[in-house]
Amino acid sequence: MTTQKDHVLIFDTTLRDGEQSPGATMSHSEKLEIAELLDDMGVDIIEAGFPIASEGDFQAVTEIAKRARNAVICGLSRANFKDIDRCWEAVRHAEKPRIHTFIGTSPLHRAIPNLDKDQMAERIHDTVTHARNLCDNVQWSPMDATRTEWDYLCRVVEIAIKAGATTINIPDTVGYTAPRESADLIRRLIAEVPGANEVIFATHCHNDLGMATANALAAVEGGARQIECTINGLGERAGNTALEEVVMAMKVRGDIMPFETGIQTQKLMHISRRVSTVSGFAVQYNKAIVGKNAFAHESGIHQDGMLKNAETFEIMRPEDIGLSETNIVMGKHSGRAALRSKLKELGFDLADNQLNDVFVRFKALADRKKEVFEDDLIALMRDQETGEEYDRIKVKFLRVICGTEAPQSADLTLSIDGKDQQTTAQGDGPVDATFNAVKALFPHDARLQLYQVHAVTEGTDAQATVSVRMEEQGRIATGQAADTDTVVASAKAYVNALNRLLVRREKSDPDSDVKQVSYKDAG
Ligand code: KIV
Ligand code: ZN
Repeated sequence: MTTQKDHVLIFDTTLRDGEQSPGATMSHSEKLEIAELLDDMGVDIIEAGFPIASEGDFQAVTEIAKRARNAVICGLSRANFKDIDRCWEAVRHAEKPRIHTFIGTSPLHRAIPNLDKDQMAERIHDTVTHARNLCDNVQWSPMDATRTEWDYLCRVVEIAIKAGATTINIPDTVGYTAPRESADLIRRLIAEVPGANEVIFATHCHNDLGMATANALAAVEGGARQIECTINGLGERAGNTALEEVVMAMKVRGDIMPFETGIQTQKLMHISRRVSTVSGFAVQYNKAIVGKNAFAHESGIHQDGMLKNAETFEIMRPEDIGLSETNIVMGKHSGRAALRSKLKELGFDLADNQLNDVFVRFKALADRKKEVFEDDLIALMRDQETGEEYDRIKVKFLRVICGTEAPQSADLTLSIDGKDQQTTAQGDGPVDATFNAVKALFPHDARLQLYQVHAVTEGTDAQATVSVRMEEQGRIATGQAADTDTVVASAKAYVNALNRLLVRREKSDPDSDVKQVSYKDAG
């Protein structure tokens, strides 16, 4: 007997709420790529950005709207006509556009634009009406809903519905609610607000107390039929509900949560890796679903059980999220066709010229490393995703002298705008010496915000992936690189971040990537 499952819409806000996370800034082309992956994976609604926030956001939302094939494309706007018009200007290019407008309704948030309850109610009526006159699909959010007085919340939700909102989103902006309360809130709103049955209720949870996934699923139990979430739970502070967690929870526990989504779950791992790369936010090893250890069974007891029956310790199969069963090893004798097929399996579908380039780098790596694992190939792919505009500065040669006695020194040659320049610099350790050498050759004021090293695989010949995040006048850029030599990877990652910062500085208008919105500006 088959039972009909209720459909839960997946609203992904990686490119808006996720990207709002300090340091997670993505480039224009990265945003387009992530949007395409989300669209392709079956996400119902993509919140592509906050068009009024910056010229960069506006351009990204516009382009994503033009390119989307399946998903509804949504943009965020505060509760004023200028924001809403700008949002519409960007999303209107989509086959299925949506305007999302919000205002903070809790006492603390009402104090920011200095509106009393009646003035805010009027503002909600006017702005939702304005949005609905532009677009048939309007989402409205009372920010900080979970700390808004119950009566006032009911009042403003009713106003928004009457003004034409088609989706009512209930944000737990500061991650304050708990599962039972989250379910009750939605259940009561649907039961008590006139017109509530005519709209879709959404849940938008933050993870400050580690309950975002549980709260979102509880809201669905209470009647919400749209979950707002991000890949890897990316988002401000402790992040948002993780898309992969809610989707897999409903899939694995369909017996007690009879809901379905349109997500092709075998694409989860690839998009998780891509978001981690472009945002520069590494996925914690023991993260549910997409963490490196989520399917690793290392203890003796576990391995024994797994060999007898995989279900002993596994409630889902690795291939359900796109991890292939075997981590097939490649080596220096592997050919182009094998590399192409392996990369395709990992989610990288390459054109011939791209494959040629990766193949040369794969051979160089295989010469240095006996066995090349899937993770090595992924690191190789991350390492090459630049393009000429990001190649003003290149690392040509690096030799460091290390020892027990400080200082260490680095002999570095950079190609800067096609001209080789060389210097030797000292520092407190080889990485510090190398970064000092870069600064000597290409003076800059950018501040190093993050330096992170990960071993891609096990063994002393493992590649290291290095992430470097830099900040200059509010602009943030993240660079990454992989190499079997940690110091070389560090130099390349630093230079990569610097190149990205230069592109940002020179190509965009002065503040294009500096978000300049304030919640105060509700009107
Ligand atoms: O967390 C929040 O309240 C938000 C709103 C803008 C929807 O992200
Ligand atoms: Zn949020």
